[in-house]
Amino acid sequence: MMNQDALVVEERDQVCQMTLNRPEAMNALNMDLLLALQEQVHALRKRRDIRVLIITGAGEKAFCAGADLKERAGMSQEQVKEYIHTIRNLFSAVEDLNKPVIAAVNGVALGGGTELALACDIRFAAETATMGLTETKLAIIPGAGGTQRLPRIVGRSRAKEMILTGRRVEAAEAERIGLVTEVCSPEELIPRCRKTAGAIAENGPVAVEQAKFAINKGMETDMATGLAIESASYWVTIPTEDRLEGLRAFKEKRKPRYTGR
Ligand code: COA
Repeated sequence: MMNQDALVVEERDQVCQMTLNRPEAMNALNMDLLLALQEQVHALRKRRDIRVLIITGAGEKAFCAGADLKERAGMSQEQVKEYIHTIRNLFSAVEDLNKPVIAAVNGVALGGGTELALACDIRFAAETATMGLTETKLAIIPGAGGTQRLPRIVGRSRAKEMILTGRRVEAAEAERIGLVTEVCSPEELIPRCRKTAGAIAENGPVAVEQAKFAINKGMETDMATGLAIESASYWVTIPTEDRLEGLRAFKEKRKPRYTGR
């Protein structure tokens, strides 16, 4: 059933790149592609040799045009519910992955496409990218975290304006409102993402995982609880060999060699 080619997975220099590969459909997410992505993201949890995930879209036009609307047209209400359940849990799994995830927004990212980018830790975009949560134009609402993640990133007033109108933002505006970290030329996009991925991969694996966890969980609670989460996350790094290696490398004026232990 599963079309493996709809998702291309490449691994190099401790970085895994997953490319949504349905360019003829603007990389829209049909159920098969969701399941392929789910399986691959899940498999990455246990991989110590992979430090960062980059998600992008095939071709020059689209990152991801959201749910596959042609497939949707043939679905029963129950099947739509199942789809929404699957995509919401998948994007939560991306957000909770024990490794940083970078979205390389190489073109149009609409509806679920923008929601996927929102679930990533860091977003870079090509100048040609446009983003938006356009669901209300289809008389539905963002169903894969968009109503929750967009206001947390750009603020609730901007998020409401974007979601209620369903308007799209160009790359420059996306950068201005903090929806993406940086905009670059289409040719520079993947190298830019790999540069950040490489910088992350040099750091202590346990530290990176714990820092992501502390930020994600701490942002969803009050300051005192957030500080308690930070403290508990810090404690995880203390007994590691890597922490001692970091101190040794500093003393010996050399690059540390971290192993994740
Ligand atoms: N689901 C299924 N197919 C899609 C799709 C989607 N979400 N988005 C685009 N496609 C398909 C088009 O139907 C078209 O296929 P066809 O050649 O068989 O007709 C192909 O991808 C190219 O799209 P097209 O509309 O011709 O390209 P464009 O550059 O003029 O416009 C978009 C691109 C993405 C702006 C436009 O296709 C669009 O608005 N798509 C719907 C986006 C959306 O509402 N997503 C869901 C939000 S919940």
